Amino acid sequence: MAFPAAFLDELAARNPIDDVVGQYVALTRKGGNLFGLCPFHSEKTASFSVSPEKGIYYCFGCHKGGGAIQFIMDIENLDYPDAVRFLAKRAGMEVPDDRQYESTYRQKERLWLLCKDAARYFHAQMKGDAGEPARAYFLKRALSASTVTRFGLGFAPDGWSGLIDTLTAKGYTKEEILAAGLASRNQSKGTIYDRFRNRVMFPIFDVRDNVIGFGGRVMDNSTPKYLNSPETVIFNKRRNLFGLNIAKKSKSDAIILTEGYMDAIALHQYGFDSAVASLGTALTEEHATLLAKYTQKVVLIYDGDAAGQNATSRAAPMLEKAGLSVKILRMEGAKDPDEFLRTYGADAFRALLQKSENPAQYRLQSLQVKYNVKDDEQRVAFLREAASYIAGLPSAVEREVYGTRAAEIAGVTAAAMKTEVDYAYRRKEAARKKKQNAQDLAAAQSRQPVVRGIRYDNVRSAMAEEALLRAVCREPALLREISLTPEQFSSPLLGKLYAALRTQQENDLAVGIANLGDEFSKEEIQHVTYVLQKSAEPISDNALRDYIAIIAEESAGAEESGEARLRAALARKRRKEI
Ligand code: CTP
Ligand code: MN
Repeated sequence: MAFPAAFLDELAARNPIDDVVGQYVALTRKGGNLFGLCPFHSEKTASFSVSPEKGIYYCFGCHKGGGAIQFIMDIENLDYPDAVRFLAKRAGMEVPDDRQYESTYRQKERLWLLCKDAARYFHAQMKGDAGEPARAYFLKRALSASTVTRFGLGFAPDGWSGLIDTLTAKGYTKEEILAAGLASRNQSKGTIYDRFRNRVMFPIFDVRDNVIGFGGRVMDNSTPKYLNSPETVIFNKRRNLFGLNIAKKSKSDAIILTEGYMDAIALHQYGFDSAVASLGTALTEEHATLLAKYTQKVVLIYDGDAAGQNATSRAAPMLEKAGLSVKILRMEGAKDPDEFLRTYGADAFRALLQKSENPAQYRLQSLQVKYNVKDDEQRVAFLREAASYIAGLPSAVEREVYGTRAAEIAGVTAAAMKTEVDYAYRRKEAARKKKQNAQDLAAAQSRQPVVRGIRYDNVRSAMAEEALLRAVCREPALLREISLTPEQFSSPLLGKLYAALRTQQENDLAVGIANLGDEFSKEEIQHVTYVLQKSAEPISDNALRDYIAIIAEESAGAEESGEARLRAALARKRRKEI
């Protein structure tokens, strides 16, 4: 366990779940529980519940759940130790020194230092004799000297060990250079060589200005055009954005999100200092949460091609879900912002920014381009697709406004359009309800966990195990009357929880899942929260005895059948020998 149990116990006590969640979600009391709109998925009816008594939250819609630490990990996008630190700070507690945490933190610090030294090396190489091709390339791409300096751009010369030799001389080990993703291993010889060769280098910073990785671009038409650092302890493409360390300081009210390093850099050079770029991957929920920390408004600029349009329709709802207001800029007359700026300049780009549309406008506009509304058949197709899209908009006002807009485009009455939208809306709702019912039914029928990757091999025993765990969380004293061992549980996860609860009780800690350590994975926490949120009535002695009996019986059965298998196998073996 990463942190001492007694510390986690106090941390949970000093951070009541309703208090922690209440800072992010408006909660209303219904009986012993509190309810609100789930912050992790978009919904109109409150299916997000908080149980102050059990110290847990659980969403009946998206099945996220856990204690206060898990909640902070999810909502603040932090890893486990950082979420613990966050809550400790919130409660004014000192975090005890912890070896495991310290050692991973020290490893990270070491890799940050190493990457910074690598960035310095690449930058110096770019400025030195070997860097002539890189300087010529930057000139060709119209990057000014101050832009090159501001972004710390560099050059990896064509060789096998230039960087490795420099870093080794500074005292870094082979393992550290590999761990930073800056070298590759020659499997047969066991030697290592520089990963980046003969490329211009774009250092990638996290928001705290640490160098965490690199993108390297060829200077001609060879492939791959870009080579990026692999995922490392410090480099996670899903959680970082190129340029955010600079953009976060911008006075502009909107962050401009582009697809390419060169686009972000060109925008900065032309004065748009709030530009960032994703790292060659699709936008993730983590990116959206990250952006929401620094801005309320995002302007999306993806390429105008089909791939770009798809990426836009995926990214926009994700950003909106994170609470951001989204505008979409349609590229005109150039394939990307870099090319546009060089061709038409900053003022023309500002005009495009002014014209950027919200997602609904953008969608209608795209449909208008896709269909020729002068043609009757295509006009019907336009209206049908528009109605289906508009029916999915969350607010009635928006459905009204954009319904009217679509009617205008197609030249039909607003009333006719409204009928079409209402129809599509009812159909969508019916489909949603049907799907939800089917899911509920399937889950109830099989009584299997809803969390992926967790299955019950023995449902009869698992149901008894669930009920028993609910009972002991309610009345920890019962644990003293139960002599089952964790190994007797048919579900390894429930057995693990049982063991953890026992340990809590033996150490006089609060019994429950609010203060479990990180030996439980996120999925595991999610599932045990689901198990424990089901209502637990006070349990009769008889019922408790029944549960214990079922678990014992089923585990004995499993052993017997195990033994029987063994006997049969031995018998087969003997027959062969004879
Ligand atoms: N990318 C990548 N690997 C590739 C190609 C692209 O990782 N082989 C990523 C890079 O992050 C790049 C982004 O995808 O910045 C966008 O790619 P693309 O539009 O092809 O490149 P540009 O950013 O326009 O770069 P340039 O203008 O230098 O061609
Ligand atoms: Mn480009």
